[in-house]
Amino acid sequence: GAAAGLPSAERTRALGSRGICYLGIAAIAWGTVTRVEVGAWTYHYSDRGDYNWDQARNYCQTFFTDLVAIQNKQEIEYLNNTLPFHGRYYWIGIRKLGGTWTWVGTKKALTKEAENWASGEPNNRRSNQDCVEIYIKRKHESGKWNDEPCKLKKKALCYQASCQPFSCSQRGECVETIGSYRCECYPGFHGPECEDVVKCTELQPEGARMNCSHPYGDFSYNSTCVFGCQEGFERRGANMLQCLASQKWSADTPTCTAITCPVLREPDRGQMNCSHLHGVFAFGSMCAFSCQTGFALKGSESRECTTTGAWTGDAPQCEAITCPVLREPDRGEMKCSHLHGDFAFSSTCAFSCQAGFVLTGSENLECMATGTWTADAPQCEAVTCPVLREPDWGKMNCSHLHGHFAFGSTCAFSCQTGFVLTGLGSRECTVTGTWTGDAPRCEAITCPVLREPDRGKMNCSHLYGDFAFGSTCAFSCQTGFALMGSESRECTATRNWTGDVPRCEATTCPVLKEPDWGKMNCSHLHGDFAFGSTCAFSCQTGFVLTGSENLECVATGTWTADAPQCEAIPCPVLREPDQGEMNCSHLHRHFAFGSTCGFSCQAGFVLTGSESRACTAMGIWTGDTPRCEAIKCPAVAIPKMGQAACSHFHGDFTFGSTCAFSCQTGFLLTGSESRECTATGTWTGNTPQCRAISCPGLDPPSRGQLSCSHAYGNFTYNSTCTFSCEEGFVRMGAEVLWCAATGNWTRHPPVCAEDGAPFLKQVLAYSSGTALGLAGVVLSGTLIAILAKRLSDRDEKKKLLNPTSDLGSPGTFTNAAYDANL
Ligand SMILES: *[C@@H]1O[C@H](CO)[C@@H](O)[C@H](O)[C@H]1NC(C)=O
Ligand SMILES: *[C@@H]1O[C@H](CO)[C@@H](O)[C@H](O)[C@H]1NC(C)=O
Ligand SMILES: *[C@@H]1O[C@H](CO)[C@@H](O)[C@H](O)[C@H]1NC(C)=O
Ligand SMILES: *[C@@H]1O[C@H](CO)[C@@H](O)[C@H](O)[C@H]1NC(C)=O
Ligand SMILES: *[C@@H]1O[C@H](CO)[C@@H](O)[C@H](O)[C@H]1NC(C)=O
Ligand SMILES: *[C@@H]1O[C@H](CO)[C@@H](O)[C@H](O)[C@H]1NC(C)=O
Ligand SMILES: *[C@@H]1O[C@H](CO)[C@@H](O)[C@H](O)[C@H]1NC(C)=O
Ligand SMILES: *[C@@H]1O[C@H](CO)[C@@H](O)[C@H](O)[C@H]1NC(C)=O
Repeated sequence: GAAAGLPSAERTRALGSRGICYLGIAAIAWGTVTRVEVGAWTYHYSDRGDYNWDQARNYCQTFFTDLVAIQNKQEIEYLNNTLPFHGRYYWIGIRKLGGTWTWVGTKKALTKEAENWASGEPNNRRSNQDCVEIYIKRKHESGKWNDEPCKLKKKALCYQASCQPFSCSQRGECVETIGSYRCECYPGFHGPECEDVVKCTELQPEGARMNCSHPYGDFSYNSTCVFGCQEGFERRGANMLQCLASQKWSADTPTCTAITCPVLREPDRGQMNCSHLHGVFAFGSMCAFSCQTGFALKGSESRECTTTGAWTGDAPQCEAITCPVLREPDRGEMKCSHLHGDFAFSSTCAFSCQAGFVLTGSENLECMATGTWTADAPQCEAVTCPVLREPDWGKMNCSHLHGHFAFGSTCAFSCQTGFVLTGLGSRECTVTGTWTGDAPRCEAITCPVLREPDRGKMNCSHLYGDFAFGSTCAFSCQTGFALMGSESRECTATRNWTGDVPRCEATTCPVLKEPDWGKMNCSHLHGDFAFGSTCAFSCQTGFVLTGSENLECVATGTWTADAPQCEAIPCPVLREPDQGEMNCSHLHRHFAFGSTCGFSCQAGFVLTGSESRACTAMGIWTGDTPRCEAIKCPAVAIPKMGQAACSHFHGDFTFGSTCAFSCQTGFLLTGSESRECTATGTWTGNTPQCRAISCPGLDPPSRGQLSCSHAYGNFTYNSTCTFSCEEGFVRMGAEVLWCAATGNWTRHPPVCAEDGAPFLKQVLAYSSGTALGLAGVVLSGTLIAILAKRLSDRDEKKKLLNPTSDLGSPGTFTNAAYDANL
């Protein structure tokens, strides 16, 4: 029972085209047909009996599907391994039909590759060996096939198919496998159940119309497309395409090609430019015609291929363009060759000249496509020499006999002012076309070489040559130097320079002078009082420098400062003294060194101190400050019994002082009442005196005596006269008379009469000869009065000599001074 339920090895068996499986009776005794299952490929054999081939097939078709169709070695090996040995072996499903070994199941011919014949087989030894057996477990060539007569009885080797009628979507062969099947799809299909259809490329015909039918899908297997063309076109290629199993179309996509016209050719000497819309010289083609350069088109310029396959218009032609007819030049010849016609396109003409003349213009002319010649007709002209040019800075005067700078031309040369000609002055054009001599040149006249000035620079511009005509040199000087002479010089045509040789001279500053009372010490670097000069200044004794001590002359021609001056050293300003005058002479400056001042005083004043003072170099004055003091008069004499009242203007008893005099009561002033101290130091007037006032003279009374005491003079003020009478007589009247200030006696003089009183006489006698110290004595009234008078006179005197300050006098005199004055 090993044959049943064989699991893995694969066997194949082709089904009939419909893939129908037949179920037979499992006559295999042991075969409980355990593994015989629908949908699974299994092998079976008839183990009860042997059958001829047809019976065997019938058996297989009855109980199983069919006889085994063996197709690969693994299957054979499997069968050899699993089937039991049987002496007559087993029938398989191959049979000769119509002379061809055919798989009976599929009715397909046995292919060469599938053949598995034993060696020497099939030999058809006894003829009619039309059926095939397989050796199982044979000694030799086990698993190989052998052809045998069909009537022989052998075991039937069957298979049970797994394939079903609708397996493989009916689009392929269902191939049995062990326990299963696989689909071998028909061409055009694929996929496990052949459910997929082969696709061809989608057709997109150009120009052609297409009508397709798609039985299995757009542009898929068995899709067919029919093609057609538009008017004026005819189809090239198949009318119909079918999508094949190979994913290709049965033919190339047909194209619609335009109907053709006869091929056109370009005209002689012309060109054709065709545009072929649909095909070469076919319907829609347009041909434009043109001619080669130099040719003109005659006929249709353009032709078109019509639907009828004919061209419009006529065939065009190209004809050569003509040029104007040429003639031989004067004094020359012309030879022409005409290629396409007389004086027509590409005709050439060669020109030549007679001896002595040369052709001007082209030697050869050709008629061009434009209908014109390549150049103007040439002429024969005299041989030319190179054109001469006038030399630089010169002129040329040419005369041309035959032509411009041609044979016979002569040129004379001259130069501009300032230039001189070198070379020939005249040249001539020779027959050979060359000039006699060399080209002359105009060379600038040279001037002497200039040099730059000391302390200066020179900047030359040389127009035509070093220090030559037209050269200009500008001169400049270093800072502090001024150019003397020409600032710029130019080289003239007369070989000399304009202007003068320039020099650089130091810029001068104003000449400085020694300052008055001073000195100047200058050092001159480049010249007297010029740039770089320095001057030092100093002053004489008594003078001091004001301004800069040192000056320098700078480039601008000025000094660094104003010139200094020596100024006298100043002394303090003096003032005239009070009551005086000052007379100064200032030698240099007001109250400065050299000034002298004289001093004087007004009348009445006298100078004390220096009469004259001089300002010294030290700035101080000689001498002392002078003063004016009033002149003194001698002390004024005060009259006795008088007094003076003085007023002082300038000082005690000095010039201007005045004194007024007065006398005591009882005295009369004689002399000047007032005196003034004059400028001469003397007093005006005379010394005044006070004279006692006189009273009338008294005479002694008769019989009496007169005794007078005269204080100031006989019978003058204060004189007292005492009268006395002789004994026996009595005085009658006042005893004592006193001369009063009025010049009168206090009483009348008495007279002496008889009688008298002794006591009073004694008293009077006593008092007259004693001192005043007897104060304690009680005196009679008269005596006391006399004493009191004397005392009071002394006081009065004092008062006069010590006047009060009513007069505004500058000073007061003390008693002592008064005493001194006296
Ligand atoms: C067939 O089977 C026999 C016996 O089992 C063995 O000897 C022989 O080699 C087999 N042949 C093949 C081709 O497998
Ligand atoms: C395509 O062919 C079918 C069948 O031949 C026809 O009926 C149909 O009119 C055709 N279509 C065209 C556009 O030619
Ligand atoms: C494909 O078309 C051909 C005819 O053109 C026909 O014979 C054939 O049966 C078709 N095949 C299928 C699978 O339709
Ligand atoms: C031909 O004609 C086409 C269209 O006018 C133009 O573009 C092309 O240059 C021409 N070719 C020649 C060779 O003249
Ligand atoms: C040139 O030369 C001719 C002949 O020598 C003379 O007559 C003429 O004046 C000259 N011209 C000038 C511009 O010098
Ligand atoms: C010389 O002169 C020219 C023209 O004036 C000026 O351009 C140039 O700078 C000058 N050269 C010197 C060195 O001064
Ligand atoms: C230059 O030379 C000419 C001729 O010799 C003379 O007349 C003229 O004065 C000179 N000029 C100067 C600036 O020397
Ligand atoms: C002037 O100054 C120079 C240099 O300072 C000095 O040598 C010379 O003695 C001075 N001369 C006088 C006269 O002072």
